[in-house]
Amino acid sequence: MNLLIRNLRQIVTVPSDGKPTKRKNSLAEIGLVENGTILVRNGQIEWVGRDEEFRHDVPDDLDVLDGSPYVAFPGFVDAHTHLLFAGSREDEFAMRAQGRSYQQIAESGGGILSTVRATRVATKKELKRLASRRLDAMLRHGTTTVEIKSGYGLDPDSEIKMMEAVTELANDHYMDIISTFLGAHAVPPEFRDNPDGYVDLVCERMLPYVAKRGLAQFCDVFCENGYFSPAQARRILLKGKSLGLKLKLHADELSSSGGSLIAAELHAVSADHLEHIDDIGIKNLAASETVAVLLPGVSFFLNHGYAPARALIDSGVAVAIATDFNPGSCMSYDMPLMLTIACTHMGMTPEEAISAATFNAAAAVRMSDQIGSIEVGKKADLILCDLPNYRYLAYHFGANHVSKVIKNGTILEFH
Ligand code: NIG
Ligand code: FE
Repeated sequence: MNLLIRNLRQIVTVPSDGKPTKRKNSLAEIGLVENGTILVRNGQIEWVGRDEEFRHDVPDDLDVLDGSPYVAFPGFVDAHTHLLFAGSREDEFAMRAQGRSYQQIAESGGGILSTVRATRVATKKELKRLASRRLDAMLRHGTTTVEIKSGYGLDPDSEIKMMEAVTELANDHYMDIISTFLGAHAVPPEFRDNPDGYVDLVCERMLPYVAKRGLAQFCDVFCENGYFSPAQARRILLKGKSLGLKLKLHADELSSSGGSLIAAELHAVSADHLEHIDDIGIKNLAASETVAVLLPGVSFFLNHGYAPARALIDSGVAVAIATDFNPGSCMSYDMPLMLTIACTHMGMTPEEAISAATFNAAAAVRMSDQIGSIEVGKKADLILCDLPNYRYLAYHFGANHVSKVIKNGTILEFH
């Protein structure tokens, strides 16, 4: 399918300048084109620029779309989600509204383990059905690539069920999906008195199986007091790396536990959360290729303080934004809402937030050479929003402004 979109109100191209990540001032450079035109051929962007400069003959095999009502953005890359789960936790939400904290709820048997109970008894088919509906909704909200983690199974069969479900969704669904094994999301109840025994199980049985079957691209660990220690996280990540998996880490979320240091040391592709990162952590990430994936929706939903986005950006860390969509700490897959929170609570500018949710988010899944910007040669994953200008996206929050989603060069029809 070939497509020509002419006279777009604005195109936010988010140019890469040939680098894998955007840092410091480059994060705010969004490559704005007024009255723009985009030519898409064979699923790729073939030309982008000002309409006045468009010189191609328009062959007959092209569908031509009037872009004048729209602002075009690269499709969002949601580089951190736990979207495959059964059950829900609105009861915990109500408890938090009455003053109980996320940790208190987790310590009394709720939290992640509550979703583990529901996910263990769900069939793979049911998990896929639930996830598929969420993926449809995410596409409608402008997300065109999503990372999905396991971690609500926490035993070999249930984790494999999750990883198979993610792999099958990746084959069947329009969404592009990146799969991450997060067997070390929490210590399951069976191993409460022997957490190292569970780490053995993850390293000796689960990871080798998942890697051998090609069920995951990334390995992740929740490194936190009460979950996995820095030593356990390092052991699991080194094992994952030895099996050919790329690395991610839930780091410094609820306390400053040194996760960001491990991520930088092991050349993890991303270190995620970072609400409690300290100065040494910031320095180490700035000197590394590791992308800092910030999750504004978690801080908003749990009301537990925000990651120091300004300090991270100004120190030269490559900052990305994702939702962390999950039933406990962020029940939202709305990327534009994350941009609003990044601007209102984290000191990011609208321009920085856009780059962080597109180009740097693509870098957080090692795909910034293929997606995350509207540039010649990239995959034609873009969204057309009914907005007067690009700044309205984060400004006019709580409404879905996405009018058209173009995935691999095809305009998706929603029913
Ligand atoms: O990223 N931090 C660990 N895991 C999730 C929360 C998952 C849950 O509460 O179900 C997170 O915040
Ligand atoms: Fe998470």
